[in-house]
Amino acid sequence: MPHIPRRDQAWELLIHYTQSDSLRKHALAVEAVMRHFAARHNEDPEKWGIIGLIHDLDYDKFSQQHCYKTAEILHEKDWPQEYIRAVLSHGWEICTDVEPQSPMEKVLFAVDELTGLVATSALVRPSKSIMDLTAKSVRKKWKDKAFAAKIDRTIIQKGADMLGMDISELITETILGMRHVAEEIGLTGSIKEDSCHEQKCTNNNTTLE
Ligand SMILES: [Fe+2]
Ligand SMILES: [Fe+2]
Repeated sequence: MPHIPRRDQAWELLIHYTQSDSLRKHALAVEAVMRHFAARHNEDPEKWGIIGLIHDLDYDKFSQQHCYKTAEILHEKDWPQEYIRAVLSHGWEICTDVEPQSPMEKVLFAVDELTGLVATSALVRPSKSIMDLTAKSVRKKWKDKAFAAKIDRTIIQKGADMLGMDISELITETILGMRHVAEEIGLTGSIKEDSCHEQKCTNNNTTLE
């Protein structure tokens, strides 16, 4: 019987295989957004979050075998097939042919690249913060092809289409998810910690502009 991995085990695995600070922050951002979406879908935030946390487990050390090496590691550790399939599906048509099927897989596919665009958009604000970032401002950056040019907008759009979500709504929910770990991922900027806690609640509407 596969065992159900705990968050602390997933974190241990992540830091074992991932030395890069930016990749660890990316993992934490995707975890937070997955948890946020799990709640929206009435699903298990722990499971969705853990999958978000380890989805790029192999990227630092085995980028040539991206997705497959993670599958191998998780398989050896007896992780459930559901977790392994989800990891493989985030590389659909990029490095695997495993198409996202479940809501969890579709969300992972849709938000993976988007967390990068959101983070980069926050960092060029005067506040350097995600706490006052709006979906409108990310949409502007989205249209600017020279901005964060490596981030493939077509993948994000494909993900939004899979989920039947409008791109603004997808961006808004991603911002809200990432705000929960703003400090950990270095995106509080000049908006200090105390006000951040408040803004997690009070600033929700501003992202919808
Ligand atoms: Fe990846
Ligand atoms: Fe990723």
